[in-house]
Amino acid sequence: MGGRKWSLLVAIFILLIAMDAAIAQGQGNGNGNGNGNGNGNGNGNGNGKGKGDDNGKASNYDHLSTLPSGQERGFCRANTTCEFKTIVCPPECAERKPKKNKKQKACFINCSSSTCEATCKVRKAKCDGYGSLCYDPRFVGGDGVMFYFHGAKGGNFAIVSDVEFQINAHFIGTRPQGRTRDYTWVQALSVMFDTHTLVIAANRVSHWDESVDSLTIKWNGELINVPTDGEAEWRANGDEREVVVERTDEANSVRVTISGLVEMDISVKPIGEHENKVHNYQLPSDDVFAHLETQFRFKKSTDNFEGVLGQTYRPGYVSPVKRGVPMPMMGGEDKYHTLSLFSTSCDLCKFQRPSGVASTEGLVAQY
Ligand SMILES: *[C@@H]1O[C@H](CO)[C@@H](O)[C@H](O)[C@H]1NC(C)=O
Ligand SMILES: *[C@@H]1O[C@H](CO)[C@@H](O)[C@H](O)[C@H]1NC(C)=O
Repeated sequence: MGGRKWSLLVAIFILLIAMDAAIAQGQGNGNGNGNGNGNGNGNGNGNGKGKGDDNGKASNYDHLSTLPSGQERGFCRANTTCEFKTIVCPPECAERKPKKNKKQKACFINCSSSTCEATCKVRKAKCDGYGSLCYDPRFVGGDGVMFYFHGAKGGNFAIVSDVEFQINAHFIGTRPQGRTRDYTWVQALSVMFDTHTLVIAANRVSHWDESVDSLTIKWNGELINVPTDGEAEWRANGDEREVVVERTDEANSVRVTISGLVEMDISVKPIGEHENKVHNYQLPSDDVFAHLETQFRFKKSTDNFEGVLGQTYRPGYVSPVKRGVPMPMMGGEDKYHTLSLFSTSCDLCKFQRPSGVASTEGLVAQY
């Protein structure tokens, strides 16, 4: 085929994609009204920016029309390994974002893969995977080494600190009689970047019901509502970075994406009766200590990371934890302790708010 014809085809194709994207954008913004106003940061969820189809900025393909079988397709962009190839989602995971049964595996299209085939992936935190933070906090570092970090109940610690962003965690816990330390869990995370703060928190729950959503999410101090139907997502993309919170189950699970920084799969979990007995936590009968299970995937260089988890991503990092013991301990509480969930200061913290954001501080600190 002549080069001209190709160009014409490509042009038409791009036009169609653009229209698709515009429609998707319009629908996406119909949800979650009333967010992003009055926080003084000028987000306002505007449409019509012409960017960001639902693939986000990170993908290297364009969305083609779905096959009659329901299988979604992607068309690989120029300069990818699979340049100009069409990748079709397998029947086992036809959708990139399962909507009806959100628990299902999602189709993952990666045009840089060597096989140029889509893969099926669970969209939940894998507690044995790299970058996980689960249980009574048990981490798997960027170096693949598992460790525990107890922190302290009521305490706040920098999990990751970098010049561009910081993630703090708030610990809840209990100290059974006669024990020498607190048993702790991560109840909330705050992701801070530029002037913004996104908080993901587990509500205090006295009796667990997995069909009841026990997640609280706040953007710059304001409660946000992540719809449970349709796209089941909330997004703020007025700024340089796109922020997406997407449900990955009917309740209690989300995937959070902050473009160019981090992606997190987060679920709220209770301490079950069995667990309570086995570990002898002696939890009060009216609190299941709902906490977060998280897996982090970083989207920028991790070479200069600090923080309980962040440090383990640095090249040449030598883990101080003992291997081959059931509970390898990571110390460093003093280095990473912060005064609040929103404080960016600790001994080794690197992130600083841009100057002149004092006005948002009061708002942000409300949580
Ligand atoms: C693809 O790579 C070539 C050579 O590196 C470059 O000249 C071209 O602009 C790239 N095309 C796109 C669409 O990025
Ligand atoms: C896509 O595949 C390439 C090659 O296997 C890999 O390096 C890259 O990290 C993958 N991208 C994502 C987003 O997983």
